[in-house]
Amino acid sequence: MQDKIKQLVSELDNYTASNKEQLEAFRLKYLSKKGVLTELFGEMKNLPPDQRKDFGLLVNDLKTKAEEKFQLAQSALEALADSSSVSDIDLTLPAEPYALGSRHPISLTRNRILNIFGRIGFTVAYGPEIEDDWHNFSALNFPENHPARDMQDTFFIEQKEGTDSVALRTHTFSIQVRVMETTKPPIRILAPGRVYRNEAISARAHCFFHQVEGLYIDEGVSFADMKQTLLYFSREMFGSDTKIRLRPSYFPFTEPSAEMDVTCSICKGKGCNVCKYTGWLEIMGCGMVDPNVLTNCGIDPEKYSGFAFGMGIERIAMLRHDVKDLRLFSENDIRFLKQFSGE
Ligand code: DAH
Repeated sequence: MQDKIKQLVSELDNYTASNKEQLEAFRLKYLSKKGVLTELFGEMKNLPPDQRKDFGLLVNDLKTKAEEKFQLAQSALEALADSSSVSDIDLTLPAEPYALGSRHPISLTRNRILNIFGRIGFTVAYGPEIEDDWHNFSALNFPENHPARDMQDTFFIEQKEGTDSVALRTHTFSIQVRVMETTKPPIRILAPGRVYRNEAISARAHCFFHQVEGLYIDEGVSFADMKQTLLYFSREMFGSDTKIRLRPSYFPFTEPSAEMDVTCSICKGKGCNVCKYTGWLEIMGCGMVDPNVLTNCGIDPEKYSGFAFGMGIERIAMLRHDVKDLRLFSENDIRFLKQFSGE
């Protein structure tokens, strides 16, 4: 019996409670009516009378110890609860700095282009990135065997004989076809968006990029209107001393077609490595909308004429900011992207 008491004493000495449940278990074991102390006091009557006194003292000691331990453990737990609820939130600490993002350079350049044309009455139209053959190719006068209709250049989703294929759009002219089909001229729109081409990825080419194409159709629209509109755009975009030049070119959907260069905004036409020492930078294709295209879209070419143009947003952004690698625009490296936040 003495041994049992000794063992209980040493258990008590080492006791700590780390939560309320453990404390309650302790109380039940030692101090409750069914606990060990009640049991030990009950044993007393079974002892010979001469041993009862010493035994009683031992059990009393044990009881005092158990009560003290209980009190101590209880206060320690309460103190812990108080301190954790206070120290977790320090209302005097300065707020975490909130990292503000910035607009993507492609969005910034696109918005700038839309804004410049917006000031002379161009509105914005959108269309699907998955496009049928008609809106991407056939309505635009692409011959059946044109290389753009080849797997090498276009990502097909369903490639079928003839003109039933479905593909990722290769230019946003498809949006303009949709607008021409449903709108009576005058039409003055910009078609921005992402386009896809089956190209090997390099510093100068990617399998997707972004375009803004534009279209103006009304009675009596001439090549001179196009030149003046594009000169206005170039000066707003690259500076008021910018000059433009048009070089004859070929596109299935415009006749005549041209490629437009602007004087290099970096060397001001003197020649540098960006313009490859020519003083000129090519920035877009343009031309008078082919009468066949107007007819395909339900517009009478006898009554209406119009011009169209298209440019790559990445190219414009690269020229404005002297970015040498197209891939930087889609790699999401924050060190690159945050440089444009002040645009
Ligand atoms: N759609 C052409 C492209 O994606 C760009 C273009 C060239 C648009 C000539 C035009 C144009 O409107 O007249 O490469």
